[in-house]
Amino acid sequence: MTTWITICDTCRREDRKAGDMARTDGEALAELIEAAAEGTGVRTRRVSCLMGCKRACNVAVQAPEKLAYALGGFEPTRAVAEAIVAYAVAHAESGTGQVPFRAWPEAVKGHFVTRLPPLEPGA
Ligand code: FES
Repeated sequence: MTTWITICDTCRREDRKAGDMARTDGEALAELIEAAAEGTGVRTRRVSCLMGCKRACNVAVQAPEKLAYALGGFEPTRAVAEAIVAYAVAHAESGTGQVPFRAWPEAVKGHFVTRLPPLEPGA
């Protein structure tokens, strides 16, 4: 099953610097994640708002029949994008979607917001 990273491309961080109003922080993070995910097998998609606006930037990591996670409070940097993709690759390699804490990239620690169990097949 393919793991997807869903990226909110309308997130704007509170510490956003005035002057760069043309592009949201979410768009910046989406571009970095899309680049980092190339060739990994992890897929990406953008949405407008994951309802975590107060803790921008937000992403979700999901796959059919696996635990799903929402993460937030990210800065749009290359290091953050690479950590999110590395976590998603580990999610893809896991049978259940549960990645052992010791395998979490440092930059995702403290950013988990929710964990959602998968629906039962046929639900
Ligand atoms: S604008 Fe990104 S979660 Fe609402």
